[in-house]
Amino acid sequence: MSAVMTVATTPFDGQKPGTSGLRKKVKVFQQANYLENFVQAIFDSIGGPGGGDITDKTLVLGGDGRYHNRAACQTILKMAAANGFAKVMVGRSGILSTPAASCVIRKYQTFGGIILSASHNPGGPDEDFGIKYNIPAGGPAPEGVTEAIFARTKEIREYRILDAADVDIETNGSRTLGTMTVEVFDPVADYAALMGELFDFDAIRALFAGGFRMKFDAMHAVTGPYGTAILEGILGAPKGTVMNGVPLEDFGHGHPDPNLVHAHDLVEALFRADGPDFGAASDGDGDRNMILGREFYVTPSDSLAVLAANATLAPGYAKGLKGIARSMPTSAAPDRVAAALGIPAYETPTGWKFFGTLLDAGLATMCGEESFGTGSDHVREKDGLWAVLLWLNVLAKRGQSVAEIVRGHWAKYGRNYYSRHDYEGIETEAANGLMDALRKLSLKGRKLGAYTVAFNDDFAYTDPVDGSVSTKQGIRIVFEDGSRIVFRLSGTGTEGATLRVYIERYEPDPTKHDLDPQDALSDLITIAGELAEIEPWTGREQPTVIT
Ligand code: G1P
Ligand code: ZN
Repeated sequence: MSAVMTVATTPFDGQKPGTSGLRKKVKVFQQANYLENFVQAIFDSIGGPGGGDITDKTLVLGGDGRYHNRAACQTILKMAAANGFAKVMVGRSGILSTPAASCVIRKYQTFGGIILSASHNPGGPDEDFGIKYNIPAGGPAPEGVTEAIFARTKEIREYRILDAADVDIETNGSRTLGTMTVEVFDPVADYAALMGELFDFDAIRALFAGGFRMKFDAMHAVTGPYGTAILEGILGAPKGTVMNGVPLEDFGHGHPDPNLVHAHDLVEALFRADGPDFGAASDGDGDRNMILGREFYVTPSDSLAVLAANATLAPGYAKGLKGIARSMPTSAAPDRVAAALGIPAYETPTGWKFFGTLLDAGLATMCGEESFGTGSDHVREKDGLWAVLLWLNVLAKRGQSVAEIVRGHWAKYGRNYYSRHDYEGIETEAANGLMDALRKLSLKGRKLGAYTVAFNDDFAYTDPVDGSVSTKQGIRIVFEDGSRIVFRLSGTGTEGATLRVYIERYEPDPTKHDLDPQDALSDLITIAGELAEIEPWTGREQPTVIT
């Protein structure tokens, strides 16, 4: 019989976990008691002393497969057993994409789940690891819960762990750990079943059978098994459709972030005249997506707009959408679709958590962010493969190319030229100074180049469901023709500060839809630089990354 040990510990460095959880270097997580302290803080906050009761509850566990994933799973299993959980459902080999975790938590109505991931950050012994708790609704823990966990990390004095041998998590099946059941399950099956309910798999199967060619870049991260099982297995796409499909603990030394820079294998395959018809990539934990046609890049903002406009082609959305939500810096392209459909459009602060209340209340069905995140009310996380499958559903039903569909969309709704310029690793003081100076400006009615300012503000949001207020969510400068410049500081960066400048211009004229976005936006880019005095503050002449 394995014994419950109570291990004395000391409060740990207590960094406040964001909604994306606690992210640190692997070496930090490998320190004695570090992971244990955080896990005990989660259990204490959601159930143990002072919380509710976790006895007889079920927890979901899994992660993106990065280095330290397996070891962390074993620690968490032994701690869950010692803390009184009845059962932990763990994805086989410790694998569970973030959207699949959300799906499983909701389907089996568990007491939430623990997801091990550092999203798109590199993995390996010298790279990043992360852990977060998702609530029973399937989404990231709201601020009240993360605050409670944080507070607990500052006072923790002991944790409980079972003194037992490792459990086999490499094969499906039920086993016991102390008095707790460990159920190892296929990480793909439930998720694939949900996708099968939402999308017209027969139509997509026929598309592939007809010779349609696709490349899906799993970037050696968690969507490898999902992409292979669903695209090549269930949907009959040719072998080799999924590239970099084997999850590796260091993602093959790559940076598993689906954008034009990091998904270079995919971009190379698609940007040639004889390339495949469709390309897509997902990130480390499977919640982000990038969509490409042959020699054609679809911005995440346009992708959300196109998917929303065509949603009824998929069985899961045949009854229409209740509303569309986008984060404030995302282009207004989805708003135009909402207006045409006669449904509400919501503008929320950056971060997926703000969509949760809207989805729960049935106010919005689809949502998305410019940062390669798209999703719907089927789970409570953004979902990379979901976006890819919805695109396939639309392509199968419309019988047109990606480029034709997007160009047709622009012809109907107008084009929102859009770009994001990131200034990474700038000094925090300079970044704050720049933002404070912008906050003081009063620009209403001012002419800047060819544009007249309609209003400028620091975006504040009142959640229409729970009434919570979020302030200082980014400086907006909105022009009379709907063009916008948005400035905000990243909340996820690790070194110094990152200034993000989002530039958008609306172009209704279809004869002007073929410009390079950087050219189409050049005058607004200049205005943004001058207005915010970016170079004087940061010493940077150019952004580090342009998307
Ligand atoms: C970034 C993205 C944001 C996304 C977040 C988590 O946050 O911009 O849209 O929700 O990552 O994936 P930021 O660094 O801008 O605060
Ligand atoms: Zn991610």
